[in-house]
Amino acid sequence: MTTILQINSAARSQGAQSTLLANELTAKLQQSNPGAAVTVRDLQADPLPHLDDAVLGAFFTPAEHRSPEQNALVAKSDALIAELQAADIIVLGAPMYNFGVSSQLKTYFDWIARAGVTFRYTENGPEGLVKGKKVHVVAARGGKYAGTPNDTHTPYLRNFLGFLGMGDVNFIYAEGLNMGPDAANAALAGAREAIAAA
Ligand SMILES: Cc1cc2nc3c(=O)[nH]c(=O)nc-3n(C[C@H](O)[C@H](O)[C@H](O)COP(=O)(O)O)c2cc1C
Repeated sequence: MTTILQINSAARSQGAQSTLLANELTAKLQQSNPGAAVTVRDLQADPLPHLDDAVLGAFFTPAEHRSPEQNALVAKSDALIAELQAADIIVLGAPMYNFGVSSQLKTYFDWIARAGVTFRYTENGPEGLVKGKKVHVVAARGGKYAGTPNDTHTPYLRNFLGFLGMGDVNFIYAEGLNMGPDAANAALAGAREAIAAA
């Protein structure tokens, strides 16, 4: 059975374009994968704490020396990674905030990037350990950046996902959402065309 993991990373609980379009994309993928199971990870509704001494201390303490509190923190990260590894298809709603991903998404990445678990270094360089996934990223942005040097958003996502082994990434853009109603409507129509083709 196909498993779809939808990750919502907008800071808004209501009306976030990245989430609304990700919902549409997941519905479309359910149609093309009948019986698919869907898991939703909502990073706004269920926030993760930033990395700090406690979290990093837990990650870098060998298992046999961890305190109960450190075991609980590692178990939280392990559960997020298991959820990711269980997915065949990942739908990532990714708004652009202040020229980057949301802090919710960055923090999620901090919790799933674990040396020896989701990536490792070999004598040939880094190797991602999250393999065999198809990733669809819905990139929602107020301005227009795709294909320009000012795009500090989707190249980062491609690099990070690729580092963890997820190299098969389809970007769906909703760009120009804050450039007036005509531009916003055109952005949404373009994104919906891409969703239909996904
Ligand atoms: C805090 C914040 C920062 C933003 N920063 C940018 C930005 O750097 N570049 C841009 O093009 N749009 C920016 N926008 C506009 C958003 O990308 C746009 O509203 C998009 O719809 C956000 O996705 P969402 O609707 O899923 O939250 C920003 C919006 C917010 C709320």
